[in-house]
Amino acid sequence: MTTPMKRERWGTRIGLVLAMAGNAVGLGNFLRFPRLAAEYGGGAFIIPYLVALVLLGIPLMWLEWAMGRYGGQFGHSTTPGMLQRMWRSPLAKYVGSLGISLPLLFAVYYTYVESWTLAYACFSVTGEFEAETAATSAAAGDVGVETAALPGAASNQFLRDYQGITPPEERRFFTTLVPAISFWLIAVGLNCWIIARGISGGIERLAKVAMPALFLFAIVLAVRVLTYGTPDPLHPERSVWVGLNYVWQPQLRALADFEVWLVAAGQIFFTLSIGTGTIQCYASYLRRRDDCALTGLTTAATNEFAEVVLGGTIAIPMAVATFGLVATQTIAAQGSFNLGFVAMPVIFHQMPAGQLFATLWFLLLFFAGITSSVAMCQPLVAFLQDEFRLSRRVAAGVCCGAMLGLGLPIVLCFETGYMDQYDFWVGTFGLVICALAEVLIFGWAFGKRRMWAELRRGAEIRIPRLVVPVIRYVVPVYLSILLAGWMMQELGDAVLMKGVPPEHRPYLWLARATMAGVIVGTVALVGIAWRRRANAAATSNEEAAR
Ligand code: PHE
Repeated sequence: MTTPMKRERWGTRIGLVLAMAGNAVGLGNFLRFPRLAAEYGGGAFIIPYLVALVLLGIPLMWLEWAMGRYGGQFGHSTTPGMLQRMWRSPLAKYVGSLGISLPLLFAVYYTYVESWTLAYACFSVTGEFEAETAATSAAAGDVGVETAALPGAASNQFLRDYQGITPPEERRFFTTLVPAISFWLIAVGLNCWIIARGISGGIERLAKVAMPALFLFAIVLAVRVLTYGTPDPLHPERSVWVGLNYVWQPQLRALADFEVWLVAAGQIFFTLSIGTGTIQCYASYLRRRDDCALTGLTTAATNEFAEVVLGGTIAIPMAVATFGLVATQTIAAQGSFNLGFVAMPVIFHQMPAGQLFATLWFLLLFFAGITSSVAMCQPLVAFLQDEFRLSRRVAAGVCCGAMLGLGLPIVLCFETGYMDQYDFWVGTFGLVICALAEVLIFGWAFGKRRMWAELRRGAEIRIPRLVVPVIRYVVPVYLSILLAGWMMQELGDAVLMKGVPPEHRPYLWLARATMAGVIVGTVALVGIAWRRRANAAATSNEEAAR
């Protein structure tokens, strides 16, 4: 039999907490959350969000930690092996393959967005961005009341030119995709370099630097927001306080709107990285008696602090103070990235020392992004190490190749909505399916008693027993309702590509085929790995018999 490789471990407990928090705290906290909260009515969004946190987020966080630690005891770093240990059906490992393919697909598009934040951080440092958009805004007459009503058209065009959305003849800031491709290559390269250095030498070290820096930047920005007050005395309704009030004032009547519940639960999954296989993978490097209960809860709490307190304090109140409430809602509804990449630069441009704050903002996003994207790469790398005995470097190289090959069409065909396909199928749908599968296996196939024992093992706080029925009944029912709701509301239109121009459709089909290919390919890889295991076991039995 092949000798098991010595398992990697986390170096320190604080390193583990920071790495797990780094996994969870990401672009979701600072871009996705403010955008959804602004679009879905601020305080109207927060209640369904908190309900989903308590009923889905925290129980599933514990479940994934316990599952990861359990699998790690048998040398499994990824979900195929974990689920197979918990459920004897031969299907289990194939279901578990989603815990490798989904994070890889996530990494592919997430790293591209992450590369924009790096690019924008550099543009903010050099001041190139500021000067150019300001000059063009003035030239285009885009100043005064108009700018205050909606963020500058120049800033919007800057982003669209960078992404290659503007038709070539109308581009002003970037005529080619070379900058976008260059920053993307840097981001992919950085991720792979960190992954190749391993759990404690790469991921943990990164987290120890990036996470404190991220919190420092976020707090500096939050303080700046809170002291921003009412920047324009002619518009007393445009103030930070109106913005904060919008986020925080509960609005009970909105609870009747089913869509808000769907979106809020989706955000809980995305932001806590649940249903992606990444938490389990990180937790597999724990020891059998290490605590999951307190550390898992700390991860969730840190993420929520970063999301609701910091994420909720920066972008929305800042935009409301500058543009007013209605314009902020419009900006948020215009595009996923408009609040962060279009409105924020305009705001920074108008304030003293804006260049510094803009740099902090984009660096904050970059650190948040990279500590999450390395987590997305790790399952594939760990799987290749565990099952195919590849060295860490070679496995990281394979992951890098996959990210480049799969990511190139996202960069080149961005304007067709190629990336949105990924975000919909993987970032909205995939993780809920994956979570449903694991909760059924952990809660039912594994058995109630064993589940409870795993949850409590080494626990440094008392997990309420109520978690057991919540995991077995409430979570599956909640998730099934969500899925059914999604299918009724969105799936039909999404599958049929309603509203998509016909010339873009082939690209979107290509995106879907690629995703399907990755999922099927991973299933096949898992099949091969298990056949190898069976052969190795047979050989060692023969040897023993001789
Ligand atoms: N939780 C991360 C965020 O909020 C995203 C993420 C998704 C991380 C999947 C890991 C896996 O941005």
